[in-house]
Amino acid sequence: MDITFDMFIETEIPKDEVIISRTDLKGIITYANDTFAEISGYSPEELIGRPHNILRHPDMPKSVYKDLWDTIKAEKSWSGYVKNLRKDRGYYWVFAEVSGVYKDGKLVEYKSIRSWVPKEKRIEMQKIYDEMRRKEKDNVRAVCYIPVDLYDSLTQKAKEKEITVEKLLQELVK
Ligand SMILES: Cc1cc2nc3c(=O)[nH]c(=O)nc-3n(C[C@H](O)[C@H](O)[C@H](O)COP(=O)(O)O)c2cc1C
Repeated sequence: MDITFDMFIETEIPKDEVIISRTDLKGIITYANDTFAEISGYSPEELIGRPHNILRHPDMPKSVYKDLWDTIKAEKSWSGYVKNLRKDRGYYWVFAEVSGVYKDGKLVEYKSIRSWVPKEKRIEMQKIYDEMRRKEKDNVRAVCYIPVDLYDSLTQKAKEKEITVEKLLQELVK
């Protein structure tokens, strides 16, 4: 587990647009509409062929994705609120509906349609997901301000030891 540097810059999907994607049965992106590319900051070429978890934001609890996969594997449709990571480490919230694509009655792919989320709902879901991650003993978000000299010496020390800053911090508090 590495430290994630978050830019905390939010992008909003226009209310009258939707993000559409399709994946194979393993979650590899096979189609992305232009709105998806624009909002995620990737080009359609960069998205196609990549696993959908390149958008995974560290604020999302693991159990949400487990529920998503359990639901769609059982050939039911799933819907829920998702906070996604942009290519530039910014983020965007969506209300996602994920379901199967069928050919001759056989499940061949999955599709997802995602739309705008009102601000109050985003705040509510952020609190719920923070609480869920805490209960799941997953990562917590810790924002701190430290003197730049200290920051520089920490990153320098981590570099010398060829370890992450998080690992170095763990060693220091041991
Ligand atoms: C059609 C479809 C759309 C998905 N959309 C997203 C998405 O927008 N963001 C995301 O983080 N995961 C999405 N996922 C789930 C990912 O496949 C993955 O399970 C998730 O990012 C968690 O990563 P992990 O399974 O590697 O822990 C989607 C899956 C499917 C099948």
